[in-house]
Amino acid sequence: MSKATKTTNEVRNAIQNRRTVKKFKKEAVPTQQIIELLDTAVWAPNHKLREPWRFLLFTGNGRKKLAEAIDAEMGEDNKFSPNIMQVPSVMLVVLEEDPRQNIWDEDFAAVSALVQNFLLAAWSEDIGTFWVTKPFLYAPKFRKSLGIEAGEKIVGMIYMGYPDVIPSAKERTPAKEKLTLFE
Ligand SMILES: Cc1cc2nc3c(=O)[nH]c(=O)nc-3n(C[C@H](O)[C@H](O)[C@H](O)COP(=O)(O)O)c2cc1C
Repeated sequence: MSKATKTTNEVRNAIQNRRTVKKFKKEAVPTQQIIELLDTAVWAPNHKLREPWRFLLFTGNGRKKLAEAIDAEMGEDNKFSPNIMQVPSVMLVVLEEDPRQNIWDEDFAAVSALVQNFLLAAWSEDIGTFWVTKPFLYAPKFRKSLGIEAGEKIVGMIYMGYPDVIPSAKERTPAKEKLTLFE
């Protein structure tokens, strides 16, 4: 398995050392800082500068809105909405879908690049993140209660906060094992 390469390059170190954080301290990251991190993340490559994204941020009391949307879909006796209320801030990243497959593919790739930018920028400021996908993100009542329109795809929920526990790294397969080289 591939161990993280030792390097003095800050970008490479951030990419290798970022971890998915699932346990957060209670204190929320200031909203202004999250917006500034997003303003860095939007420098992701995106074809024709379509910027095919928008964001919903739930923090403090605002998390209730997200919990209510989950309840609307799943009923009040579900395990997800109480969990959401324990996460300091949650952001939904939404793709504005183009009906043309080639453009949809490009735009989904661009949004994924934006999310990774955000995770790395946050990590560089000691903020932990967790990119979460759940079946209810596709569910009509959940989407309707948050104003997600037809033609929009929720690419993920990003949980964020100051890490309480940083998990150890899961090793990666060396790229060489998946490389077909022509030289
Ligand atoms: C699109 C996407 C969805 C994910 N959804 C989940 C999820 O629902 N639950 C989960 O435990 N981890 C989820 N993850 C996080 C991965 O499990 C995590 O990145 C992986 O275990 C590697 O850990 P690391 O990020 O610390 O390197 C998701 C990651 C991506 C990119």
